[in-house]
Amino acid sequence: EAAPLLDRFGRVHTDLRLSLTDRCNLRCTYCMPAEGLRWLPRPEVLTDDEIVRLVAIAAGRLGITELRLTGGEPLLRRGLPGLLARLAALPGAPGMSLTTNGIGLARLAAPLRAAGLTRVNVSLDTLRPERFTALTRRDRLADVLAGLAAARTAGLDPVKVNAVPVRGVNDDEIADLVAFAAAHGYRMRFIESMPLDAQGDWRREQLVTAEEILGALAARYELHPLARTDRAPAEEWRAVDRQSGAHTPVGVIASVTRPFCGTCDRVRLTADGQLRNCLFATEESDLRALLRTGADDSAIEAAWRASVAGKGPGHAIGSPAFRRPDRPMSAIGG
Ligand code: GTP
Ligand code: 5AD
Ligand code: SF4
Repeated sequence: EAAPLLDRFGRVHTDLRLSLTDRCNLRCTYCMPAEGLRWLPRPEVLTDDEIVRLVAIAAGRLGITELRLTGGEPLLRRGLPGLLARLAALPGAPGMSLTTNGIGLARLAAPLRAAGLTRVNVSLDTLRPERFTALTRRDRLADVLAGLAAARTAGLDPVKVNAVPVRGVNDDEIADLVAFAAAHGYRMRFIESMPLDAQGDWRREQLVTAEEILGALAARYELHPLARTDRAPAEEWRAVDRQSGAHTPVGVIASVTRPFCGTCDRVRLTADGQLRNCLFATEESDLRALLRTGADDSAIEAAWRASVAGKGPGHAIGSPAFRRPDRPMSAIGG
């Protein structure tokens, strides 16, 4: 019954990506500096009550049907299973998923599943312990692997694994990651890196493109394109092992070389309650201020609709007109 959340290009927005914290317990080199970032002061972060209210408005008045919890690292948020259970109990509750680095999932997978989480995406860029430590600046590979296993055991389905290949760092592990995921029943996806690191070090030359990713798989796997199931950003293939004949799905999110902006159905909310109509938006809409000054639901709905109405056609990575957003990905939400 809710009117669709439309922009001026006719895109309907049904997917809300909600960042629960800007903090992280890893320091991936392609994301943030070794010393971390200036984290949001606690009073600026939305409370559980504020989050529940905004999600209720999103689900009840704006037609949001999918909610993705992100960070920073969302598992760092205290009391997460309790918050999830409250969200799941809302009338018209959206489908709920989580994007995490996997640390803490060994402990939290079962309680999150019980609270209403159904699926999870876990970031894992390398299977080699020393390389993991160099890339994330933390010696936590074992925790991530334990988290992945716990997610599967808890019945989260699917369990997707996200990897960002970086030239000269982990781009020789692309086929190995697929074999690992196939062996454990996870769905492997590779992501083109975007200019969203906090340091501003991103260079086009370091981008491992979708084309190169598929090329790296070709020796070991025969690739058959799969029909796109939804408006998810991943293009998918069935990878058939040339030796064993076993097959496994592989996804590639080619945000740079094949942007999916034209069918984007996403809107994002930062941990401090700023609504962004795009990952690359240059403006934010301050929903937290509305919440904290006593605005009613219809005023918040109106601000939300106005923000989406102002959404641009898409990012212009690679063109001279491109401007980086004023926050890094870890603060916007992955
Ligand atoms: P599902 O396919 O539903 O599991 O979700 P997803 O792939 O969107 O979720 P995930 O959080 O795992 O995101 C994976 C990657 O997709 C992110 O790291 C981004 O690189 C990319 N991505 C997600 N949302 C956007 C977006 O709005 N714009 C662009 N350009 N890339 C995005
Ligand atoms: N470009 C693309 N993906 C990124 N991620 C982190 N930084 C970037 C970037 N600059 C990935 C993480 C995680 C997901 C949420 O986003 O590795 O898998
Ligand atoms: Fe943390 Fe994700 Fe950034 Fe790595 S990419 S430092 S896991 S927010």
